[in-house]
Amino acid sequence: MSKRSLSFICQNCGAAFSRWQGKCEACGEWNTLAEEGAEIPSGPGRKPAKGRLFALEPLSGEAHEAPRLASGIAEFDRVTGGGLVRGSVLLMAGDPGIGKSTLLIQAAASLARAGHRAVYISGEEAVAQVRLRAERLGLGAAAVELAAETAVEDIIATLSEGKTPRLIVIDSIQTMWTATIESAPGTVTQVRGSAQTLIRFAKRSGAAVILVGHVTKDGQIAGPRVVEHMVDAVLSFEGEGSHQFRILRAVKNRFGPTDEIGVFEMTGAGLQQIANPSELFLSERDLGQPGTAVFAGVEGTRPLLVEMQALVAPSSLGTPRRAVVGWDPSRLSMVLAVLEAHCGVKLGGHDVYLNVAGGLRIQEPAADLAAAAALVSSLAKAPLPADAVYFGEVSLSGAIRPVAHSAARLKEAQKLGFARAVIPECARGEGAEGGFKVTSVASLADLVTRIAAIGTRGKAA
Ligand code: TYD
Ligand code: MG
Repeated sequence: MSKRSLSFICQNCGAAFSRWQGKCEACGEWNTLAEEGAEIPSGPGRKPAKGRLFALEPLSGEAHEAPRLASGIAEFDRVTGGGLVRGSVLLMAGDPGIGKSTLLIQAAASLARAGHRAVYISGEEAVAQVRLRAERLGLGAAAVELAAETAVEDIIATLSEGKTPRLIVIDSIQTMWTATIESAPGTVTQVRGSAQTLIRFAKRSGAAVILVGHVTKDGQIAGPRVVEHMVDAVLSFEGEGSHQFRILRAVKNRFGPTDEIGVFEMTGAGLQQIANPSELFLSERDLGQPGTAVFAGVEGTRPLLVEMQALVAPSSLGTPRRAVVGWDPSRLSMVLAVLEAHCGVKLGGHDVYLNVAGGLRIQEPAADLAAAAALVSSLAKAPLPADAVYFGEVSLSGAIRPVAHSAARLKEAQKLGFARAVIPECARGEGAEGGFKVTSVASLADLVTRIAAIGTRGKAA
């Protein structure tokens, strides 16, 4: 008798087991094992299946530009890399209530207005609810085709009739179920099975499909990120509950860049595009207060100015607190270590808080210099000049390293009325025009000396 094949597969890590158990021993997740059909055994007495022949193509040859369709919502198109690619599948992930349904009904309406067939399938809301929202958004007249359905086979059968839709929105993938799989809707197996069926339909028909995916509390999409690797692009819709603006970010994109962001504001009339986000992020500055520095950043191809706020205060705790919102905590630790080691700034007895204003999340190392400036400004109680921007990467030796796109950063600062910039030495002045003062700093110690000088001047006055 042949050995029994392993047929219980962990839906999280893919480990295989011969019997069911509650916990996957490989990854430690609970309740992730599901039975999957064993492979068809091969061996004597079985004719090996004859494969189908296919043509091999040379590498050179006519490359077809992926045919894209712009949705007409510029911030959305920027993130997708220029529009929706035919036959592609996008996952739109985000917290419940962030505005995924709102954005997608707006995108569908925009396409429908341009004369394309757009279909919106809601598994969460009744048709009347979706209609009500569309009316509130002033989209009532758009020719979007609506349905409240959750059975994937029915959806595909319906959509296969007539002209192929250019866009199909599935809201959300967690509510879909396919009859080929027995488990309940929302389980990993169902989500994966439904997504697979819909992806196959997209590739076959050429329709662009957008799957909505709710993120669970710990930031995962549909349990163990089952859909992420199957789709062509993953867009993450983010925002802070207390702020009105939302950021659409491409986490993965087979047809475009992954570092672009789209900025929207949630208003009473739906999501409005923010064409110049710097103005938004700088709109509520505390001028003249110590502990704030404006960082001239770049997100994708677009320069973006944001305020970094720091609070350094004597600690009453044995281990002082380090808290960061919107930036990488390990980069903060690094900047603090360099300040201690190379600049004589002692922070061991201080609590340190760092916040990126407006709820934006910065990933660039170029923010090091602005963060350091804000920290030192807070510690020295020396307000930084209100018309200055900062950018540059701090290395462990305390040197300030140049960063990419200096010219674009300086230009944006000038455009928004800033009069000076503190930047790495090697990037001196490129792109700056008359009346704009560029100060280059070679090391972090250099920056600390300059800020300390402001502090003493302030006290003398
Ligand atoms: P929704 O798109 O339903 O979120 P999701 O699909 O991601 O769960 O948006 C829900 C929130 O958006 C809700 O709290 C109300 C708010 N909202 C507005 O502020 N203005 C609007 O015009 C709309 C439609 C929603
Ligand atoms: Mg929704």
